[in-house]
Amino acid sequence: MTYTSSTVRVPDIAAVPRHIAIIMDGNGRWATQRRLPRVAGHTRGVDAVRTAVEECARAGVEYLTLFAFSSENWRRPVEEVSFLMRLFVTALEREVGKLHANGIRLRVVGDLSLFDTRIQDLIRRAETKTARNTRLTLTIAANYGGRWDIMQAARKLAEQSVSEGRVVPFDESEFAQHLALAYAPEPDLFIRTGGETRISNFLLWQLAYTELYFTDAYWPDFDAKTLSDAIASYARRERRFGRTSAQLEPQSQDASSQNADSLPC
Ligand code: IPE
Ligand code: IPE
Ligand code: MG
Repeated sequence: MTYTSSTVRVPDIAAVPRHIAIIMDGNGRWATQRRLPRVAGHTRGVDAVRTAVEECARAGVEYLTLFAFSSENWRRPVEEVSFLMRLFVTALEREVGKLHANGIRLRVVGDLSLFDTRIQDLIRRAETKTARNTRLTLTIAANYGGRWDIMQAARKLAEQSVSEGRVVPFDESEFAQHLALAYAPEPDLFIRTGGETRISNFLLWQLAYTELYFTDAYWPDFDAKTLSDAIASYARRERRFGRTSAQLEPQSQDASSQNADSLPC
């Protein structure tokens, strides 16, 4: 599909979000609460990922994007970082066959150049194997940062300008096509578990008009009910994209006015 910017055109919306983006937070606290090492929380977190994928597919969600490792998570103790890398490899090795059998397309976004070549190779193979699946696109954001994403898109456009010997003109939609998630619509619903109410450098560009949902549940406890509560909250929201409530009513005079879904150019 072609990327549509929510600030250029009002997107079509449905009761079930097409795209859900999740900050999977609280693994360490989940483990600490049980007097376990923090990494035990990460291991349990993989089970919650499986639940999230299954439940989203069942609910009819088309895109699920999970924040697995941020560009700032390298600041953690080296042992925790290496544990997370090993866990990522194991999960890829164990789960890709199952994802494929269930019609799930896997994508990994982020600055993958910092991962060792074995991980990069596993990722490439998993993406190729699942490329034609259409039931749900699961994106794992690994060594991802919202600022990195915007910067790498800007760099690509700058390089294009240099190679063509002129400033290549672009608008919002064209810029967004260079972002890591250009193949997906902008998220309709953002969920953060673990009780913090911040974005932590996740999808800074793409969350412009996303509905935000925060829950205190720690990520390893994420289950079908956590997801259905979030989707129910989403279904109650009035997504105005800058318009007034009256313009959203089907019979409204305002709704049929030219201003309802586009901006003056
Ligand atoms: C999220 O859980 C997983 C990663 C960031 C990799 P945390 O490890 O941040 O857990 P808390 O927030 O410390 O409890
Ligand atoms: C955000 O969680 C990153 C991931 C879940 C991968 P953090 O636990 O790293 O975020 P902060 O440090 O609390 O903002
Ligand atoms: Mg955290």
